[in-house]
Amino acid sequence: MNDINFDFTDRAYFVSGGSRGIGRAIVEALARAGASCAVTYRRNDDEHMHSWAAELSRGGVRVLPLRLDVRDPEAVRETVATAVTQLGKLDGLVNNAGITRDEISLSMANSSWLEVIETNLNGSFFLAREVLKGLVRRKSGRIVNIASVSGITGLPGQSNYCASKGGLIAMTRALALEMARFNIQVNALAPGFIDTDMLQSLRENQRSGALQQVPGRRFGSAMEVAKAVMFMLSDAAAYMTGQTMVLDGGMTA
Ligand code: NAI
Repeated sequence: MNDINFDFTDRAYFVSGGSRGIGRAIVEALARAGASCAVTYRRNDDEHMHSWAAELSRGGVRVLPLRLDVRDPEAVRETVATAVTQLGKLDGLVNNAGITRDEISLSMANSSWLEVIETNLNGSFFLAREVLKGLVRRKSGRIVNIASVSGITGLPGQSNYCASKGGLIAMTRALALEMARFNIQVNALAPGFIDTDMLQSLRENQRSGALQQVPGRRFGSAMEVAKAVMFMLSDAAAYMTGQTMVLDGGMTA
């Protein structure tokens, strides 16, 4: 983060799916810029999450790990309420939690379709709805939805994922229009191939195929995505809403 110096002192954000990858980088970038974060994780990594959060929590910064499955609207309601109570307020939300279950459509299992839509689309909506209640009262705030170029261009084997991310982009526009009069900006970020566990789960031939699609022949890093999110949460992006920013090394150019 040495080349971008945002000052987010006294701000507080909710970041979903921060146990690893892009979400983890976003929380680290926010904490270094002085912001407190509620960060959700899903599985049994309580000890790991708490020691990482303790490392990041210093000065006025507090990183609060909270266990959450974003598919459960009641759990979302309770977890957002806990975050607001513990941090005192929220200035925004980064909807980052997401999964892939790639399968060719003709043989796609019902569970693969449902899990992806429930996590990437329904979960993002449930979180946005809860966090927005507080932002509307305060008449200020930001939401950044982590979409994907798959929500713009389509990719074979990803009809579920493409539908979820395309839906997220459409939801971003609708929320931006609803929220503009409350001084709340809602935008999406569409990364291309980013080197995280999600990409590591591809077979070697799929990874090399993916690399061939990127003009610069390199995958993006989680921290590059985090820096773009920081911009979108910063005052520099105050007049930007309802938009999808693409960060893909030129893949869709
Ligand atoms: P990752 O697999 O490393 O991390 C995903 C995170 O989401 C994890 O923390 C996981 O615990 C959480 N998560 C999954 N299901 C959840 C649920 N039901 N409830 C709560 N949390 C849940 O993935 P990565 O690469 O860091 O992806 C982050 C976001 O970026 C996702 O939305 C993904 O779709 C998106 N993205 C990733 C790209 C890539 O190439 N890695 C490209 C474009 C978008």
